[in-house]
Amino acid sequence: MILIVDFGSQFNQLIARRVRENEVYCQIEPAGHSLDKIKALNPDGIILSGGPASIYEENSPSIDPGIFKLGIPVLGICYGMHFMIQALGGKIARPVKREYGFATLKIKNIFETISNTPESINNTSQKTKNAHEETNEQNSLSLFKGMDSSFQCWMSHGDSTENLPDNFVVTASTENTEIAAIADVKNRLFGLQFHPEVEHTINGTAMIKNFLFDVCHCKKSWNMESFANGAIAQIKEAVQDKKVIMGLSGGVDSSVAALLIHKAIGKNLHCIFVDNGLLRKNEKENLEKSLTANLDMNISFVDKRKKFLDALKDVTDPEKKRKEIGRLFIEVFEAEAAKIEGADFLGQGTLYPDIIESKSAFGGPTSIIKSHHNVGGLPEKMNLKLIEPLQLLFKDEVRKLGIELGLNEDMVWRQPFPGPGLAIRIMGAVSEKRLSILREADALLLEEIRQAGLYRELWQSFAVLLPIKSVGVMGDKRTYDSCIAIRAVNSKDAMTADWARLPHDLLAKISNRIINEVDGVNRVVFDITSKPPGTIEWE
Ligand code: XMP
Repeated sequence: MILIVDFGSQFNQLIARRVRENEVYCQIEPAGHSLDKIKALNPDGIILSGGPASIYEENSPSIDPGIFKLGIPVLGICYGMHFMIQALGGKIARPVKREYGFATLKIKNIFETISNTPESINNTSQKTKNAHEETNEQNSLSLFKGMDSSFQCWMSHGDSTENLPDNFVVTASTENTEIAAIADVKNRLFGLQFHPEVEHTINGTAMIKNFLFDVCHCKKSWNMESFANGAIAQIKEAVQDKKVIMGLSGGVDSSVAALLIHKAIGKNLHCIFVDNGLLRKNEKENLEKSLTANLDMNISFVDKRKKFLDALKDVTDPEKKRKEIGRLFIEVFEAEAAKIEGADFLGQGTLYPDIIESKSAFGGPTSIIKSHHNVGGLPEKMNLKLIEPLQLLFKDEVRKLGIELGLNEDMVWRQPFPGPGLAIRIMGAVSEKRLSILREADALLLEEIRQAGLYRELWQSFAVLLPIKSVGVMGDKRTYDSCIAIRAVNSKDAMTADWARLPHDLLAKISNRIINEVDGVNRVVFDITSKPPGTIEWE
């Protein structure tokens, strides 16, 4: 296990991704843990993340410096390196030149470095050299093993190193930063001023790999098969012969979580799927086929279309729509759950990023922005214990797990779909007729996007029904009908998004098909707004 200490870097999850891509398990923990807690976690290596703070600011994040004496290898990145240097007796200062963006990294021959390092940087160079020569095994420990002597890295820092602690040598430099990488090979302590976890750093992934396998001697044991086996055994142990209730949304997370619980306890998992009438074309049928017919899961499909549509009649305000739908969902879910006797647990598809964001002392505004999308309050109100079997996984791992468990590709690769469904893609009041227009247009759009091979690549692609009518001609007749907007965006996490540059021919085909095949639509427009300033959804 690799422990990643969170000093507040925006790239923490990226570091974790890089470690897990190598089939090594890692955990992100907030700075400030006691030495005992760190020992109890028993990591094979520790990565100290970067962070926005400066080491000499008051209350800058820290961790017990005793970690450097545990004999566990440590890799400090940017702020993490500064922390290590200061904790071990070196000095950090503001640089003459700030460095932000690309830089060319020049790797040093470590033995040349030792004899050439100026006294101001390393006043114990001879001692260090002797220490280095102790064993050949130590000499081969370089994060840069197998790399060219010069390549591009990505920097983002204000502070830089003035003096190194004893035993450290400089292992790489850039034009503006003499001390761009350091190592105390004997004690297996390494520091990188640049960010190996971002794609812009050539060989960054290989550096992390060298740290994991050459330095920490990690074994490749983290894959979805071993995860699934472990999780199934844990769920069995926790639930015993009790029952678990779970709400299904049709999305990847809740489907995979439910499937995992199903593999552990079979029919004692009771899933509830509420048909609120705001679903896309064939959505319920597809879910039924994938989970019930193919995988034999125990699911109650509750038809509440009328209840939701009645409640939404005349509601035009977006927030009122959301609130009303959220309120009704809880009401319906609770009533359905009450019918299941002997349930002690509530299953949920919470993912690792949600957990890290709510735990991180330095987590930016992310958690706040996301919370308004969650339907809150279920567990507390219902007095059930939570089972969240995906809480250690990232989204792409959840997808791999879904495949491992036998979920079909369509479900595994489904684009995100908001809880309030088509209600927030119909501008103005929601009605049966307007839902039907949007459903047909959306289905045609998705069919064409899939056919063009773009479905997986796009974060989301969907149709929006506008609250206006416009004039057209069809054949010899004048028409006065509705307008559909096409929305397609690229994004990594929905916090920001860019409108997708769909090919013109594809747009033409989608537009033609919607106007010809969907009754009541005579105009199609393409949304070219990014987020920010726009949002992905229209309401
Ligand atoms: P926006 O429109 O805020 O959307 O840019 C960001 C992401 O969140 C989804 N979304 C929602 N999901 N309930 C949800 O479960 C909601 O009320 C909601 N509103 C937006 C949206 O589809 C996108 O992926």
